[in-house]
Amino acid sequence: MLVWTVCAALIVCGVLLRHPYLFQDVQYVLAKIKRRRFVLKCMQTNYSILDRFLDLVKTQPQKTLIYFKDEMFTYREADVLSNRAARAFLQAGCVKEGDVVALFLGNQPMFLWLWLGLLKIGCPGALLNSNIRSKSLLHCLNCSGATTLVASEELLDAVKEVLPHLHEQQITVFILADRCETAGVESFIDKMNQASSEPISKELRSHLTMQSPAAYIYTSGTTGLPKAAVVTYSKVWNFSLLLATTGVNSKDVIYDTLPLYHSTGLFVFTGAVERGIPVVLRSKFSASQFWDDCRKYNVTVIQYIGEIMRYLCNTPQKLSDKNHKVRLAVGNGIRADVWRDFVRRFGEIQIREFYGATEGNFALLNYSSKMGALGRHTFLHKMFFPYAVIKYDADKGEPLRDSSGFCMEVEKGEPGLLVTEITAKAPFTGYVTDLNQTEKKKLHNVFKKGDLYFNTGDLLRIDEDNFMYFHDRVGDTFRWKGENVATAEVADILVLTDCVKEANVYGVKVPGQEGRAGMAAVTLMDGLKFDSTVVFKHVEDFLPSYARPRFLRIQRSLDITGTFKLIKTKAVEQGFNPNEITDPLYFLNEKERNYTPLTPDVFDSIVAGNIKI
Ligand SMILES: *[C@@H]1O[C@H](CO)[C@@H](O)[C@H](O)[C@H]1NC(C)=O
Ligand SMILES: *[C@@H]1O[C@H](CO)[C@@H](O)[C@H](O)[C@H]1NC(C)=O
Ligand SMILES: *[C@@H]1O[C@H](CO)[C@@H](O)[C@H](O)[C@H]1NC(C)=O
Ligand SMILES: *[C@@H]1O[C@H](CO)[C@@H](O)[C@H](O)[C@H]1NC(C)=O
Ligand SMILES: *[C@@H]1O[C@H](CO)[C@@H](O)[C@H](O)[C@H]1NC(C)=O
Ligand SMILES: *[C@@H]1O[C@H](CO)[C@@H](O)[C@H](O)[C@H]1NC(C)=O
Repeated sequence: MLVWTVCAALIVCGVLLRHPYLFQDVQYVLAKIKRRRFVLKCMQTNYSILDRFLDLVKTQPQKTLIYFKDEMFTYREADVLSNRAARAFLQAGCVKEGDVVALFLGNQPMFLWLWLGLLKIGCPGALLNSNIRSKSLLHCLNCSGATTLVASEELLDAVKEVLPHLHEQQITVFILADRCETAGVESFIDKMNQASSEPISKELRSHLTMQSPAAYIYTSGTTGLPKAAVVTYSKVWNFSLLLATTGVNSKDVIYDTLPLYHSTGLFVFTGAVERGIPVVLRSKFSASQFWDDCRKYNVTVIQYIGEIMRYLCNTPQKLSDKNHKVRLAVGNGIRADVWRDFVRRFGEIQIREFYGATEGNFALLNYSSKMGALGRHTFLHKMFFPYAVIKYDADKGEPLRDSSGFCMEVEKGEPGLLVTEITAKAPFTGYVTDLNQTEKKKLHNVFKKGDLYFNTGDLLRIDEDNFMYFHDRVGDTFRWKGENVATAEVADILVLTDCVKEANVYGVKVPGQEGRAGMAAVTLMDGLKFDSTVVFKHVEDFLPSYARPRFLRIQRSLDITGTFKLIKTKAVEQGFNPNEITDPLYFLNEKERNYTPLTPDVFDSIVAGNIKI
């Protein structure tokens, strides 16, 4: 009750003082509190997203859940198919409640049937990025603790490449095909087709609580190879309710083009299930097909990341640009100039920008009419959802502390590190089997002895009017093509080649591009020359395309700080301009499938957008 009284009093003050945003601020915090209550109720009654799905199967069996290419699946069909998937797992005898099963496939309805099937038998799915190969693939599998792997037929070669290791670790391997000739790999589709579609007994997931894992989602974290973040059922709720908060209702149709193995894609699906609405799924985002799809399926809500909005704005203008039913766009990373172009071209679409990390314990949402802002910094929001934006030392890569060892909040307008308090209400569930990494994301004694915060790794800025803006990510990861790239992971791969001795990897700004392009400053082994062909082949074999360094800089020695942490700030500032850097520079030449010299001419073409990187 106190909450409501305080809010009512604040609204009255706001009206009296003509505070322009107070009403929205209060409304937002109230909506967030309401959402929190809903989740708490689900936690008390063990009501999961799966229960919600099963309720909808009863109340609206004929409503479409998935549109995919020319196929459609109703809620009832989704139920039947996921029952079959669950039974195929059980009958194969390789999984029981609590076992982790790794899914290795791109966006397709089968992804969802497998995941729902696993939930029905109390097993979390480890959602592998379908771009990873060899060493990364083994690492990701290993850190999930999965005992079974299911891969799509297209990825059979990637599986074969690591098969001896999988067998060594006694992992059962299935391929999504009717039959399979490869020894040690079993087919799965035939097993599913033969399995009964009868409902799965609740007994089979009797140990589930809202704290149980529903999925493991891989994130780059801040250092090293990808880490599996634990996504509990309570977290699935917390993220799924975002669509409800942005005003998505039961008549909407949502378009999901982002990978289901990332939280961005998966939570659009679970959010749609929470709302009971159809999802138009695409195997891959396509700028040229985007609006045709929206028209074909009567899409009303789209989901975006900054890159998507930019690609859409870069397509040639068409007369039909405003001919669609899309009314809402939900996502993150749109820039103010792109936002302006987007609305001018495609019509009055409301844009709801949000902020939140898979493993984070906090989210922000732009609920006011401020272009480019992520959310609002208010006393009320802070009181209920404690966070702070603190001073950060970019060279040392850690927060600045005052003489008594505590962190300091930044001044208005100055970028700082967003940290969010870890409490029982906002827990940090950490990474699977990687306690050190989990520890690294925690900050102790931030404002007083004994307090504990989650380090988001994101720099934010708060303006005079208390709007919050995204500024950058801190040193150890950067974003490119909508993916987070962990610099240490790329460096680890580069030094595996014969000629590279050390590598310092960072992201550089490229005019006209979202995020940062990967660049590596490397030193060479004594007496060896830079072998561009070998390095290219190696990078292509071991890294997904978004993580491959676009630029290489050959140095005699790498800059090192007193603490032996590589100085990146200077290199980052110097960028990839051959007119300013005397070291030999190379760029990743897709056409010639090699690293070729980055001359001033090439540089100009890249900046002008004539060479695609
Ligand atoms: C989800 O939100 C509820 C309510 O705010 C909270 O109690 C719960 O701990 C949250 N779960 C996670 C994993 O963040
Ligand atoms: C929720 O599940 C847990 C663990 O199975 C159980 O102890 C608890 O009683 C359940 N709560 C309700 C309301 O069913
Ligand atoms: C998997 O992890 C175990 C220890 O958890 C380790 O001994 C093994 O070498 C790892 N395998 C791979 C391929 O990383
Ligand atoms: C889209 O809406 C039109 C007109 O309301 C309708 O005829 C058509 O069947 C709808 N398409 C889908 C895929 O629901
Ligand atoms: C923030 O929300 C307002 C209100 O819906 C909207 O008009 C504006 O476009 C949004 N801005 C961004 C960048 O998300
Ligand atoms: C965790 O860190 C400690 C001390 O820094 C180290 O000894 C240990 O090997 C690390 N464990 C793993 C699994 O990396």
